Amino acid sequence: MPKSRLTNTVCEDASELASRSHYSAASAVKTEVEPDLSVHEGTSSRFLGVERATVSFGEGGARVCPLRGVSVMFKRGTLSLVMGPSGSGKTTLLSMLGCLLSPDQGSVFVDDVLVNQLSETEKTAIRQKKIGFVFQAFRLFHSLSAIDNVALGFELRDPKQSQRLEMAQELLDKFGLGDKSHQEPNELSPGERQRVAVARALAGDPPILLADEPTASLDAQAGRNICQILRNQVDEYGRTVVVVSHDPRWREFADRTITLCDGEIEQKENDL
Ligand SMILES: Nc1ncnc2c1ncn2[C@@H]1O[C@H](COP(=O)(O)OP(=O)(O)O)[C@@H](O)[C@H]1O
Ligand SMILES: [Mg+2]
Repeated sequence: MPKSRLTNTVCEDASELASRSHYSAASAVKTEVEPDLSVHEGTSSRFLGVERATVSFGEGGARVCPLRGVSVMFKRGTLSLVMGPSGSGKTTLLSMLGCLLSPDQGSVFVDDVLVNQLSETEKTAIRQKKIGFVFQAFRLFHSLSAIDNVALGFELRDPKQSQRLEMAQELLDKFGLGDKSHQEPNELSPGERQRVAVARALAGDPPILLADEPTASLDAQAGRNICQILRNQVDEYGRTVVVVSHDPRWREFADRTITLCDGEIEQKENDL
C-alpha cells in the first residue's frame, strides 16, 4: 500500500515520543499549523462514519478490495458493534474511522468533519484530539509503568498538560488499578493490561473510542469487565464507541450491531 495512505497510529505516535530523550517529548507533536476542526456546514448529521467507501490494496492480480462501497454512520453517544468473519474488512473500516487510512473512493466523517480531503497534519490533529484507540494486543510500552503509559496518552494529546501524572493516577484509580500504577505491563494480568490501555486511550477525554478486538485475549471475567467499562463511556460520558469484535459477549452491551461480509455490509441490526 502506498505509504501516504496509511498513517501511523496513536500508539506509533507514542512510540516516536517514547524513543526520544527520556519521555519528555512535547515538541514531537507537530502543531505548527492549527487545523480547522470546526463543524462543516451541511454535514452535521454525519457525526462518524463512511459513505460509499471503497478501499483497495495492491495492483493487478495482487489487488484486494477489503471494502466495497460501504456506507455506515455511527450516532453520537452510542456503542456500535461491528462483527464479521476474519478478512471481512472490520479493521479496514476502523482504520478509516480513525483517520489512519483514506478510501480510494467515498467519504469519511469524524466528529462532523469530512476528513478524507484533509492534510496529514490535520488528520493527525483530529486523531490526537478526538479519537482513542484500544487494540487486542494492548500495545503498551513494556519498559514504562502503568502510570507512565497513561501519562504518555495525556502528553500526546496535550504536550502542555503539566498534571498528567495526577490525571493518569486518577484514571487508573477509576479502573481499579490505583495500587498497581507503578507496575510494568508484564507484572499485570491481561485484563489489567487492557484496563491500562483503555485508560491511555481515554487520556485527554476524546469523544470517540475505537476498539479493535479488545476482548479477544481476555478470559470471561476480564472480557466482561472491559465490555462494561466501554459501555460506561457511553452512558456516563456520552462518548461514541465503535467495537470491532468476533466476541458475542458484546451484543448485550451494544446499541447496534453491523455485520460485514466480504467487504460489504451484510446486516444492520437495531439501526439507529
Ligand atoms: N495493508 C494491507 N495490504 C494488503 N491487504 C490488506 C491490507 N490490510 C488488509 N488487507 C486485506 O484486506 C482484507 C480485510 O482485512 P481486515 O480489514 O484486516 O479484515 P478483518 O479485520 O475483518 O479481519 C483481508 O483480505 C486482508 O488480507
Ligand atoms: Mg481485524
